[in-house]
Amino acid sequence: MSQIQVSAVSKAFHSTTAPPRQVLDGVSFSIAEGEVVGLLGPSGCGKSTLLNIIAGLDAEHSGSVSIQGRPMQEQLGAGFRVAYVFQESRLLPWYTVQQNLEFVLRAGDFPRAEWGERIANVLSAVGLSEFRDFYPRQLSGGMQQRASIARAFCIDPDILLMDEPFSALDELTARKLRESLLALWARFRTTIVFVSHNAFESAFLADRILVMGQGRITREIDMGGTPRPRSYDDTALFEASKNVIQILERHAHPSHANPSHS
Ligand SMILES: Nc1ncnc2c1ncn2[C@@H]1O[C@H](COP(=O)(O)OP(=O)(O)O)[C@@H](O)[C@H]1O
Ligand SMILES: [Mg+2]
Repeated sequence: MSQIQVSAVSKAFHSTTAPPRQVLDGVSFSIAEGEVVGLLGPSGCGKSTLLNIIAGLDAEHSGSVSIQGRPMQEQLGAGFRVAYVFQESRLLPWYTVQQNLEFVLRAGDFPRAEWGERIANVLSAVGLSEFRDFYPRQLSGGMQQRASIARAFCIDPDILLMDEPFSALDELTARKLRESLLALWARFRTTIVFVSHNAFESAFLADRILVMGQGRITREIDMGGTPRPRSYDDTALFEASKNVIQILERHAHPSHANPSHS
């Protein structure tokens, strides 16, 4: 059974001053357990809306999302764990890095005896062991985002949802964080759904890229043949991202879809 099944999800935003805006229009796909899937598309194409619907944070839509055959809310009630990483770290500023992690372990009812090992493992994976007693304001943006990724993994989530987690970082920092993310994935084999507008990032991280446009999934690109651990020098990733960019360009300029006819 697939881990996440999205079936014919449509959503329109209604407003009193403008016509309804159809943001998602019959989106269907499924994601297997342990898979890393990227939702890729231009700004405003509905990626965050779709991620929120998968997370169960937005129930106002048609169609359905099921998690191992049941609604997310039921799964959460039965102990299923979902973690979210956003573009900004959303650490609690009055807590240290360690206290931020303890906060989610406490909220998730993890036995206190496990906390030390869980925290040590994830902080070491993201290279923050020496910074556990620092407050967020004492850390760079990249380090804050590392802490946010550590916080997500310390609960060993069943599903990790990430909304443009590296978009606010400079490219060198983003590169290191993507590698840390994949190292954590290799250890935990978490099902990951991430949103990105960066074709190369999507190719680097994903087993499968779902390209979004006009409220739909317009293409699916299988990256499963690219070996892991991934390398930034793998030319197959450049080829794949070139291909993806061409697809995005065709969405952005449909009249140029077939240059030989223009
Ligand atoms: N709460 C809302 N009310 C009205 N329109 C919204 C709301 N949230 C998002 N939208 C619109 O829906 C579209 C998709 O938004 P979003 O899912 O955030 O896109 P993305 O994450 O791909 O950039 C955008 O045009 C946005 O303006
Ligand atoms: Mg968004």
